[in-house]
Amino acid sequence: MKKRLVISTGAGISAESGLSTFRDSDGLWENHDVMEVASADGFARNPELVHRFYNARRRQLLDVVPNAAHRGLVDLEKDFEVNIITQNVDDLHERAGSTNVLHLHGELMKVRSVSDESKVFQLSADNIETSPSTIIEGHKVRPHIVFFQEAVPNFEPAVNLVRQADIFVIIGTSLAVYPAAGLLNYARPDAEIYYIDPRPTVTLYRDVETIAMTATEGVKHLIEILRKRD
Ligand code: OAD
Repeated sequence: MKKRLVISTGAGISAESGLSTFRDSDGLWENHDVMEVASADGFARNPELVHRFYNARRRQLLDVVPNAAHRGLVDLEKDFEVNIITQNVDDLHERAGSTNVLHLHGELMKVRSVSDESKVFQLSADNIETSPSTIIEGHKVRPHIVFFQEAVPNFEPAVNLVRQADIFVIIGTSLAVYPAAGLLNYARPDAEIYYIDPRPTVTLYRDVETIAMTATEGVKHLIEILRKRD
């Protein structure tokens, strides 16, 4: 039976595709205060701006492609049962070909009804613009993004995955945003843990093998370690 490999990714895995990380740019997201464009209060204050902001992020996403780190995680599916838990709202894991991707913070290419959160709509590349007056199938919509001050509905399924992991890998996240940052605490005591980040600044209170490299170099290195050992 294949071992279960669970991988938690953050903005750093998409950096080499050309998408900027959050905390490397002074808490600003493409020159906007994160609380202005990614909080429930910010959306209530200025929905027009928030829609415009995500329209721009979608346009940017259509201009970039998955990198060797995203592709390396697809390769690992040959040898492992792989589940990715990502904080990223981009779809680069899916476009690289990963089979099991759980988004903790929502998805850029989706919107949902403002009044019924179970009604989620996929946008297509030729239809990415939304505004406070956009109606889809009778519903006013909002970005399908987990704003600060909102619950993280996929946290519980993520915890269940981490609990089952034989190997748990963290890639390109500052581990500054909870609850995502706490996922490591749910790994079994006997799980092997790897942490790939060129600036691995946080101290993890577990026996962790830190790979201080960029995502593309680090994933290549991880694949070598895992293949050599098995
Ligand atoms: P951060 O910007 O907080 O952290 C990015 C991490 O990536 C840092 O630890 C960097 O050292 C690392 N990094 C930079 N370049 C890298 C590279 N080439 N390869 C690998 N790692 C690299 O991003 P997140 O931890 O993902 O929420 O941020 C968490 C959440 O905060 C986001 O999901 C977002 C934001 O507010 C929402 O959008 C709701």
